[in-house]
Amino acid sequence: MAEVTMDKIVSLCKRRGFIFQSSEIYGGLNGAYDYGPLGVQLKNNIRDFWWKEMTQLHDNIVGIDASILMASKVWEASGHVSNFSDPMVDCKECKSRFRADQIDLNAPCPVCGNKDSFTEPRNFNLMFETHIGANRDASSVVYLRPETAQGIYVNFKNVVASSRVKIPFGIAQIGKSFRNEITTKNFIFRSCEFEQMEMQFFVKPGDDEEWFSYWKEQRMAFYDKMGIRMDHLRWHQHGSDELAFYAKDAFDIQFLFPMGWQELEGIHSRTDYDLTQHTKFCGKKQDYLDPITNERYIPYVVETSAGLTRNVLMALSDAYEEEDLDGDTRTVLHFHPSIAPVEVAVLPLVKKDGIAEIAEELEKELRNDFSTFYDQSGAIGRRYRRMDEIGTPYCITVDYDTKENDTVTLRFRDSMEQVRVAKNDLVKTIKEATKNYKRK
Ligand code: GLY
Repeated sequence: MAEVTMDKIVSLCKRRGFIFQSSEIYGGLNGAYDYGPLGVQLKNNIRDFWWKEMTQLHDNIVGIDASILMASKVWEASGHVSNFSDPMVDCKECKSRFRADQIDLNAPCPVCGNKDSFTEPRNFNLMFETHIGANRDASSVVYLRPETAQGIYVNFKNVVASSRVKIPFGIAQIGKSFRNEITTKNFIFRSCEFEQMEMQFFVKPGDDEEWFSYWKEQRMAFYDKMGIRMDHLRWHQHGSDELAFYAKDAFDIQFLFPMGWQELEGIHSRTDYDLTQHTKFCGKKQDYLDPITNERYIPYVVETSAGLTRNVLMALSDAYEEEDLDGDTRTVLHFHPSIAPVEVAVLPLVKKDGIAEIAEELEKELRNDFSTFYDQSGAIGRRYRRMDEIGTPYCITVDYDTKENDTVTLRFRDSMEQVRVAKNDLVKTIKEATKNYKRK
């Protein structure tokens, strides 16, 4: 089987309209990407899959959508203003900038080759800073949020007061976050603007270890449901050098990306650090009153923090395959049908004799249940291949027999097997196949 490289993924993404470089016609903006017609659908499907998993299929999790711009005090309290930085060095000759922990400071500059040309390492804050209102002074500084988590913490009391939730409970949020990454590489893996899917689970102090184990298990199981190959996922526990100073424990779920094992999601035991910090900085106690025992305490937090945009890269890399079919190559994306941007393609075998009209009608009917695509141009074999390349799990072909007996051909992407199905049974048959889908 041919190797899955990042170049192949990037090329497919551009060719088929998944992901483009931002501002490409102006030479491109580093670290920023645009999602094309198929990319936005894939991203939205993964987002919806996560949201349903967290807020619908689990007890006691509610959602919020906090503003990206928040009071600067939030980031002072969270520690991001003083601590959220990477050590940087500049090359004095060519002015290139590097993360000091990612290059050999005793080696020549990797860009211009000059020796002993690096400045002393200094800390560079990763938050994007801007101003709110007409004045541009220290009092008008605001930041683009570097994580969605704080939007949840600062709404903890609002949610408790308005939603009748009781500990243990969680608050989930999906949204954009921003980090001024100097080393943006590996396509959308590390970009300056990205999307997070975070859930903060509030528990009674002392119950946190049990919930930490529970969420570790739940989050790994999620990727199995999403159809990701489990031998491409592994755990990485943070050592003392990686653990945030307030964290009790932290595990990453790593995925085997084309460039190697890298973090996909973090499960963090954050103790009462964030709510305690906000209590100090805003002067209002961010605590919880147990309605049964009347105990008052600041809850502990177990966080599950996944990158949505990293999930997109994972889904593409995991699904990509170049199959050798008798000397011919079939490029296929084996997406789980639940996240495939197009679920069902309807293809008339020929355009004439009313076949195209029947197919068009059928495609319109199926729109109520699936995301569909209609394609009548080119040889049927080529049309199947185009659908395989974007990961469409089901192709329906309308032919002369359809006119006679109201049956169509249903073709399965992975096996390329074709079965004859009555038009009226299509929705049921496809839904059943999706429920039972297992990648080979
Ligand atoms: N909220 C944790 C993170 O952004 O990594």
